[in-house]
Amino acid sequence: MTEDFFCDALPGTGGRESLGAQAVVLRGFALPRAAELLADIGRIEQISPFRHMLTPGGLPMSVALTNCGLLGWTSDRHGYRYTRIDPQTGQPWPAMPEAFLQLARAAAQETGFDAFEPDACLVNRYLPGSRLSLHQDRDELDFSAPIVSVSLGVPAVFLFGGLRRSDKATRIPLLHGDVVVWGGVDRLRYHGVLPLKEQQHPLLGRQRVNFTFRKAA
Ligand code: SIN
Ligand code: FE2
Repeated sequence: MTEDFFCDALPGTGGRESLGAQAVVLRGFALPRAAELLADIGRIEQISPFRHMLTPGGLPMSVALTNCGLLGWTSDRHGYRYTRIDPQTGQPWPAMPEAFLQLARAAAQETGFDAFEPDACLVNRYLPGSRLSLHQDRDELDFSAPIVSVSLGVPAVFLFGGLRRSDKATRIPLLHGDVVVWGGVDRLRYHGVLPLKEQQHPLLGRQRVNFTFRKAA
């Protein structure tokens, strides 16, 4: 009993941790595909480089981002929205690689969300000090599809709160290969990432890369 409990609770052991009725951490779920995912990110950034977008308040985000898929999430002084064209290159966002799609579908399926067809994948790059303040993912048209979030590289502390900004947030360490899925009654939970610590990862150096799959349209 005790042994099983620890097995489930320890990061990187393939366990599953519940964060809510329809929110789950799948430990190490992306590990078998990590090398392929990283090679794909290399191709994506050749087409649409990582950049620091401005918040509607006019400040550059500490996280650098790019996108793949039909729709890409963007931010500027006018607000947040999804676009088909990368505003920096004037070209469509790079296509979503097959490995990304398969992983997102498999993670959704695993957590009870059948037939997840993401049309958007936001790729965030964190360096030491980069953070993401508490927010809801609510720029999508249809909240019936879940969010699938994949972490690679240096560990980070993920904050998972409630439906109100003031609700207490749980702190969850996310390691290389971990996947978080939230949807249904948990779809609009506030979440964020604490400032990244200075650490080294064998594949990614000082970086953490997170990709978030959404059905935006
Ligand atoms: C996000 O909410 O867009 C990203 C979360 C993360 O980096 O883990
Ligand atoms: Fe988010």
